Amino acid sequence: MVNGSRDETTDEREWETPPISFVNGANVTAADGDALREMDWPACWECAADLLDWNRPFDAVLDDDGVTRWFPGGRLNASYNCLDRHVRDGRGDEAAVTWEGKLGESRTYTYRQLLDEVNSFAAALRDLGVGEDDVVTLYMPMVPELPIAMLACARIGAPHSVVFAGFSADALATRLTGADSEYLITCDGYYRRGTALYLKGKADNACLSVGQEVEQIVVNRLADGDSVGDHHSYEKLVRDHAGAEVAPVERGSDDLLFLIYTSGTTGKPTLVGHTTGGYLAHVTWTSRAVFDLDPEDTHWCSADVGWITGHSYAVYGPLACGATTILYEGTPDHPEKNRLWEVIERNEVDVFYTAPTSVRSFMKWGSKYPAQHDLSSLRLLGTVGEPIDETAWHWYREHVGGGECPIVDTWWQTETGGVVLSTLPGADRMRPGAVGRELPGIEAAVVDEMGKRVAIGESGRLVLTQPWPGMARSLCTETDWGARRTGTVDGEWQYDTGDNAIRDADGYFHLLGRADDVLNVSGRRLSTAEIESAIVGADGVSEAAVVGGTDTVTGSKVHAFVSPESNVAGDEALRKRVRSAVESAIGPIAVPETVTFTPSLPKTRSGKVVRRYLKAITNGEDLGDTSALRNPEVVGELESLLDE
Ligand code: WT7
Repeated sequence: MVNGSRDETTDEREWETPPISFVNGANVTAADGDALREMDWPACWECAADLLDWNRPFDAVLDDDGVTRWFPGGRLNASYNCLDRHVRDGRGDEAAVTWEGKLGESRTYTYRQLLDEVNSFAAALRDLGVGEDDVVTLYMPMVPELPIAMLACARIGAPHSVVFAGFSADALATRLTGADSEYLITCDGYYRRGTALYLKGKADNACLSVGQEVEQIVVNRLADGDSVGDHHSYEKLVRDHAGAEVAPVERGSDDLLFLIYTSGTTGKPTLVGHTTGGYLAHVTWTSRAVFDLDPEDTHWCSADVGWITGHSYAVYGPLACGATTILYEGTPDHPEKNRLWEVIERNEVDVFYTAPTSVRSFMKWGSKYPAQHDLSSLRLLGTVGEPIDETAWHWYREHVGGGECPIVDTWWQTETGGVVLSTLPGADRMRPGAVGRELPGIEAAVVDEMGKRVAIGESGRLVLTQPWPGMARSLCTETDWGARRTGTVDGEWQYDTGDNAIRDADGYFHLLGRADDVLNVSGRRLSTAEIESAIVGADGVSEAAVVGGTDTVTGSKVHAFVSPESNVAGDEALRKRVRSAVESAIGPIAVPETVTFTPSLPKTRSGKVVRRYLKAITNGEDLGDTSALRNPEVVGELESLLDE
């Protein structure tokens, strides 16, 4: 498919259907889906807002007088919606958070226990002087104190700013300053693959370089007791405030719930703000409609809480629905490659949500690991973060989902706050490799450089053409079209997502990767995602990334970096299979000029391949700073390979 040729309609073989058992019990059935899609789009979002408890009802769904405001006039508190109302409704003894620690330990908080600890910590924060609208930075690994701190901040109306624990002291300092935050909650350290990592040292260095007073609260994870130097001990604060009750602060719908930096795969990380009413309504409704969550469900979103995915679908969404959320501190392959499946079996997880890059790793390790466990509790699987190729999709469904579970391929961004494109698992058929249509209440389109719609089957830029409640606050006012923001085209509001996509005749979107990941070969636009998907279809390939080279004749040529499956050699035979897979899927024009084998691809800590480095290596350019990578060593190895 070059420049898009998905205009042929439905080929029955491409469709997969959810099992009847799922369809019958789904939160959104086919009839509900149709009814929602026929509603006015603001009416859909009113249904979402009705899932929340409001202290003061909103006057309107949306006010769009220059600045978009969701549920104006409404007042609510996010921690009340995630905790108190479930206890009030008699579900205090049900599990809210189950934490699976790195050393094999496990701890469950019921809704009542979680509420108690949130109350104590909220009281402590108040005593330390944290007031409404003061930004509190959380620099913590995947420990239960992280969601507790988030909810305690939400309770007193102090926006939190979670900084991923893998970031450096410098990165933390920039984020403390950028968010104008004078409070930092951190941890003495944590374990990674059995080794202790010290976080506190990095936090101290960051605070030193910020140049203003930062009040630190430290959770002891490595050490016992309260010894935290000059800083406050989390344990002691909670103990000293045991039994405290803090009335949830009523926040305006439009008031900030939290700040978060975009992961910054491309360009500079930017600070994004999410609102209390709009964001919470969006993630609560999508948790019910897309992840089909009910109070009796156990949901596991494997993303780190440091990313938006963890905020929306490991903390706020599942807790607002009254479900149980799993918080996993470990890595998928430690101590053994069956760890995730063991956690799913032990906790009887209903819904598992992860990234395609993880699915490809599971595939590489082999189906014998999931096969060792009883995964029959799973009813639904999800993916997010990048396109999932058909091979990985089928493997995931077969070996994790028992051949039955529906899979939701959910497209969204830090800026959208929650899922905007996905199938509704109880209502829609699935087309592996495509994300599905817009959710009810969302309008999207594929447009050319001028913002005009392209034909069905043509590739172009994915834009959202109506606001949605989870939208980042900056999108409500900014009109800087050039900077991947919002603008008006022929009187129509558009948000440029920065992704390229094709919409097929059934209305399903096929994501082609970031616009800046598009290659131009002899004047033809090729998408990296499409070539990569062809390559991983070749026998023996685990993962692949392609980039453009600089060539004076053909513009750019395709260069592929390929990671073979374990026990498969990166040799001439595999190289041939890679080339012929691309040739048959797309055509000779897309066949890679070079195929370089590597044990792994350079990735951000959130698991996204950073093609920018591969491009620099290919074209002999300066690499710049690689410290934000999860595996910076691989870049050096690749450089030396190409020099040979
Ligand atoms: C970018 C957003 C919010 C989720 C994770 C990271 C890519 C996301 C999909 C998908 C294809 C996807 C897009 C998007 N992306 N989901 N299902 N299929 N691509 O959030 O760091 O803000 O990244 O992730 O390129 O723009 P983020």
